[in-house]
Order: sequence, then C-alpha cells, then structure tokens
Amino acid sequence: MTAHADLLIHNAGQLLALASPGGPKRGAAMRDLGLIAGGAVAVRDRRIMAVGPSAKLRRAVHAANYLDAAGGIVMPGFVDPHTHLVWAGDRAGEFEMRIAGAGYMEIMAAGGGIMNTVRHTRAASLDDLVAQTRLRLDRMLAHGTTTVEIKTGYGLNVQDELKQWQAIRRLQAKAPATLVPTFLGAHAVPAEYQGHADEYANLVIDEMLPAIAHEASEAPIASPDRIPAVLPVFCDVFCEDGAFSLDQSRRILEAAKAFGFRAKIHVDEFKPLGGTRLAVELGAVSADHLVCTPPDEIELLAHSDVVAVALPGTPFGLGHHDYTPARAIVDAGGTLALATDCNPGTCWCESMQLIIALACRYLRLTPAEAISAATINAAHAVGLGREVGSLEPGKRADLIILAAPSYTHLGYRFGTNLVHTVIAGGQLLRQTDD
Ligand code: NIG
Ligand code: FE
Repeated sequence: MTAHADLLIHNAGQLLALASPGGPKRGAAMRDLGLIAGGAVAVRDRRIMAVGPSAKLRRAVHAANYLDAAGGIVMPGFVDPHTHLVWAGDRAGEFEMRIAGAGYMEIMAAGGGIMNTVRHTRAASLDDLVAQTRLRLDRMLAHGTTTVEIKTGYGLNVQDELKQWQAIRRLQAKAPATLVPTFLGAHAVPAEYQGHADEYANLVIDEMLPAIAHEASEAPIASPDRIPAVLPVFCDVFCEDGAFSLDQSRRILEAAKAFGFRAKIHVDEFKPLGGTRLAVELGAVSADHLVCTPPDEIELLAHSDVVAVALPGTPFGLGHHDYTPARAIVDAGGTLALATDCNPGTCWCESMQLIIALACRYLRLTPAEAISAATINAAHAVGLGREVGSLEPGKRADLIILAAPSYTHLGYRFGTNLVHTVIAGGQLLRQTDD
C-alpha cells in the first residue's frame, strides 16, 4: 500500500536521524547519530512521517513534492537553547576596550557591559526591538537553526522586562522557527539598585515574576497551527560574583517555580559559587556556561537529569582560554548540549555551525557528539525533546540539508555556511545554490 506525503526528501549521502526515544543522549550514546546512508525522509502535515533508505521510501510513499538531496547531509534543524537575542544597540566599543586589556566584569562594574545594553534596550520601542531581533533570527535560520530559546534580561525593570517578553511573543506568532521564552530579570543588578542586590531580587520576585506570569497567561502561546501548540516558559538567573549570589538565585528560582516557570541557571562562568549544585538540587532543566565548575559538582551534574549547556562561543568571544570541561561531563555519562549564547557583549554569533567547530577543538567533542549536543540534547535543554531535535515520526518537520560529503565536515570546516536548504514545520524556507 502506498502512503501519501506532502514532501519526500531523498538521496541523502548521509541522513542523521538522531532518534533517542528514551530521553536525551547521555555519555557514549552521543556518538550514535542514527546514520542512514542514502537516506530519505517523508513529511506530512508539517510533521515527520517516515525515515528510511531512499529506495524503500520511494516505493512506499507517494509524495506531492520531491526534493533530491543530491548526496548531501540531511539532518534535524539545529536547536539553540541559550540566547539573549532581544537587544538594541551594540558593544563594539567595549570589544575594543577588551582587546586593549579591560576585563568583562571590570567593564560591567564600571557601569558598562550588560547595563550598556540595558540603556539602549530601555530606550528602544517594542517595534524596534522586534525588527532588530527578526534580522538576527533570519540569519540564524539561514545557518540552519529552527528552534531558538530567547531570554529577556536587558530591561531590568517591570516595564522593560515586559517589553522584551512581548517582543519574543510577537516574534513567536510569525517566526518560522520555534521560539522558547525565558525570563531573565536577574541578569544584572541595574545601576539604580547598585549595592542593593537583595532589594532588586525582591523586585524580581514580588513584581516582575507576577507581571510576566500574568502576561504569559493572558496571551497564551498555544495555537492550533503551531507545533508544538504549547511552549514551556523558563526563568533564568546569572549566578555570579558581581551579579546574583547563590541565595538570591535560589530565592528567585523557587519563586519562579511557583508561577509555573521551569528553571535554567547561568553558573560558573567566571567564579564558582556552587550554582551547579543548586541547579541539581532545584531540578533545573539546564545549567549553562560551566567553565570553572569544580570536579565534585561536575560529577553531581553528570549523574543528574540537568542538561549541561556549554557555550564555547563565549570564552572565544572574550578571547579567554578556559572552556567547559565537556569531556569530563560526557565521559561521566552526562547530558551535554551546545548553544551560541548570542548576545551583544560576549558572543554575537548566530551560527550553531561555528559553535560545533569550536566545541570540537576546545571542548574536545567528536563531530558526532557535537551534533547530538546541537540537536536532540539541545531540544531537551528547552523542554522540547519530544517535539524537535531529531527526525522521528510525529516530530515537527524541521530539517536542513548540508552540502558536504560526510557529517564530519561540520566541525572540520568553519566560517562558511554549509546549510543550503532549511525546512521548518514542513515549509521550505530557504534554498541556495552554493
Ligand atoms: O551569558 N553572562 C551573562 N550574560 C551573557 C552576557 C550578556 C552581555 O554581556 O550582554 C552571557 O555571556
Ligand atoms: Fe547567557
């Protein structure tokens, strides 16, 4: 019997299914990409319908449209599980100061850094923020990213955190990619609360969280046309010396939980405060950065269900030499994901392909491990492991095609875009000849 499909993509040199029905890939399982040589994938009603060898699917499926992958790599779209994508202005001037020797936290303590972007973001209109962010999302999509987590955190007062949240919601309604919102009111202590971090943490808990939670329930993200119909909401905290203490982080994330937010946390970027242990205690969905995490906390993390999110673009962007001990996490059986951390201060990078290349070199991941980290494990880091991140029947049809003879070219090559075709939710969005 012939099944009917909307689209059949066939003749892949390598199809990477990345199926992992039991949950995220842990440890050695990250090396298994579910590779099908000469693979094909059928799409119906914006979802994956079937995956298998081309010869078999061409016999079994009658499609309205056929797309010849011409020996390229067919794989799930990238999932970027950590970005700060809604901002105004730029920090090119601080980049020059850092090259001349100024430190990131030093610039922040002097009123620059995150506060610099906060001033521009507060001054920008909602329309402006949406327009600027849309350009970044378009470039991400062109580089193969079909799911993006986006944090607030450049408003740092009720009104402007809400404005950032609304910008994400507006983009969500139209963007071809799936967007996951995260409230990061505790990104920095704003200038007007300098020396009063506890009071600012109270403002986050008593006023911002209820306001954002209200907004989230007033305009539900649920829509019958979108897959998934309902998206999770997250709360994140920058747990760091000069930002938020362990106690403040705990207070904020516990309060957020009561409002229905799931927890994420920036930990151990510059100084270890015990944030990784806190992430495990709180059952956070992810712990992110993990550059200077002590070995006992790495062990703890690797044996928990918290997804470790490494952001190698950030030390690279800062010109630092310390990176996440990803090898130790994976070798201890942990679940590792990769993200860009795209933000105007430390890492304005819109390409998961570059992040994979950095991860292979500085985190010593194999290309296969890095690909698992940038797809299925990244999907779990945003609570969408059942919806996106792999080519499994029933999942949203988010697919990319790369002009490369083997998946190892992801990682091996960098600085050019290997993705020539992007399909999001079953829609062909981009196809270039190069
Ligand atoms: O994840 N570490 C805190 N936040 C961002 C940087 C944000 C900024 O500098 O604007 C990060 O690296
Ligand atoms: Fe970040």
